[in-house]
Amino acid sequence: MSVRILALVGSLRAGSHNRQLAEAAVKLAPEGAEVNLYEGLAEIPFYNEDIDVEGSVPAAATRLRDAANAADGLILFTPEYNGTIPAVLKNAIDWLSRPYGAGALSGKPVAVVGTAFGQYGGVWAQDETRKSVGVAGGKVLEDVKLSIPGSVTRFAETHPADDAEVAQQLADVVARLHGDIAEPTAA
Ligand SMILES: Cc1cc2nc3c(=O)[nH]c(=O)nc-3n(C[C@H](O)[C@H](O)[C@H](O)COP(=O)(O)O)c2cc1C
Repeated sequence: MSVRILALVGSLRAGSHNRQLAEAAVKLAPEGAEVNLYEGLAEIPFYNEDIDVEGSVPAAATRLRDAANAADGLILFTPEYNGTIPAVLKNAIDWLSRPYGAGALSGKPVAVVGTAFGQYGGVWAQDETRKSVGVAGGKVLEDVKLSIPGSVTRFAETHPADDAEVAQQLADVVARLHGDIAEPTAA
């Protein structure tokens, strides 16, 4: 059976370059792995403990939890907003972090990558994302990194899947995540 990798994107805009990166990862998945791009983060209400109780959990949040539970690992694609993680992605992590100690990220290998316009490619946001996922119980692949600067110009005319350097780097990321799922390393 194929290894299932769930891709979450921290940008909601239709022309998102991070979404394009995720689309490229779908295409570049190695044999034996499939990357599924999650749709629906925009529909999930802000995390609120008052509604995270039996009978009140929003359907959109349950759908995300089910998708993450069904995955063997996750890859998170995020830009940087004002020096940190975009709210939509943080909200998804918050929903996936509960029930405490048994959230859908618990023990699951997670890689974090992304592109942003600034010269560091969004490293602050990606580092914050790794920190948050780790606190939420995920097994963060700390040495798997890809931060691509100049998103708006670099991908203005070229889809990341057609950018040979980026495609190779992304393929390596997916292969390493796949490898960790197939043969787990120590957390
Ligand atoms: C609200 C907002 C804040 C931003 N802050 C940063 C930032 O702190 N650092 C950075 O490198 N780029 C920043 N940018 C530019 C984004 O990195 C760039 O637009 C990126 O391509 C957005 O990701 P997307 O293409 O996936 O939508 C910001 C963009 C927006 C809309």
